[in-house]
Amino acid sequence: MELGTDAHKELFCRSFLDTHLTYEPETIAWPQLDEDALARLRGIPFWRVALETERQAGVMVSAFAETVDDPLIQEAVALQAQEESRHGRLLEFLINHYGVEIAEPAPTKIPANPAQEFTDFGFGECLDSFFAFGMFGLARQTGYFPESIFNIFEPILDEEARHIVFFVNWITYQQIQAGRGADLFRGMHASWHYSRALLHLAKSFGGAGGSGESFTAASSNSFIDNLTLESVFSMCLQENERRMSHFDDRLLQPRLFPRLSTIALQVLKRLPKRRSTPTTEMSAS
Ligand SMILES: [Fe+2]
Ligand SMILES: [Fe+2]
Repeated sequence: MELGTDAHKELFCRSFLDTHLTYEPETIAWPQLDEDALARLRGIPFWRVALETERQAGVMVSAFAETVDDPLIQEAVALQAQEESRHGRLLEFLINHYGVEIAEPAPTKIPANPAQEFTDFGFGECLDSFFAFGMFGLARQTGYFPESIFNIFEPILDEEARHIVFFVNWITYQQIQAGRGADLFRGMHASWHYSRALLHLAKSFGGAGGSGESFTAASSNSFIDNLTLESVFSMCLQENERRMSHFDDRLLQPRLFPRLSTIALQVLKRLPKRRSTPTTEMSAS
């Protein structure tokens, strides 16, 4: 299958549409949590930012879907909007159900340029999801919450994996269709957008997760003790591989952050070990 062809479009749209799950946040069997688990859940600092991000994603992706001419791509993008809105409703349900106190979330905004925002958001999601996969894996490994809570979020992260696989295929298809299919151009285009995503991440580190788009990595070290970069990169890679293994191998997958993390891990493994690692190491790096 050649990238940028109708066959490619069929594959990345159909595989996205066919793997949609039907569930509603309100009918999930939310577990009863003991006081310790409740306190840990309420203490996680990113619920408001996560809620705002997902709600805004729903509005923005929906606005973008309305501008898409191709009916099949339109259907897939509209479905992503539905999934993002459902993430927002799921977080809202969790916040209310477990009595998490948050400041009033910012209202959603109608995007001025939906195509541009969808593109920026897609590159941001590639970065954010890669870290989210790892942090989720680490939190699960340490038994931070009862397994029943992780089971609720497991399909959410798989949905994010579907979104980023759809996105990297969509953007490649678009560029080839627009005659900008040369590897060099696509590489430069992706680098520019990934730099913007990284800038968001850097701002999140500096501003306690305030940028909205890249909250997972930025907030991670505040809820799991003794994180090391090595453990984070290892788990991100392991979990990314696990989630990506479910996709048709003819589809493109986000590769930049797995590659960078593999290099970082090789460097870190060669560095002399420190006796203890401060939990702020990620933000200092
Ligand atoms: Fe989402
Ligand atoms: Fe998403």
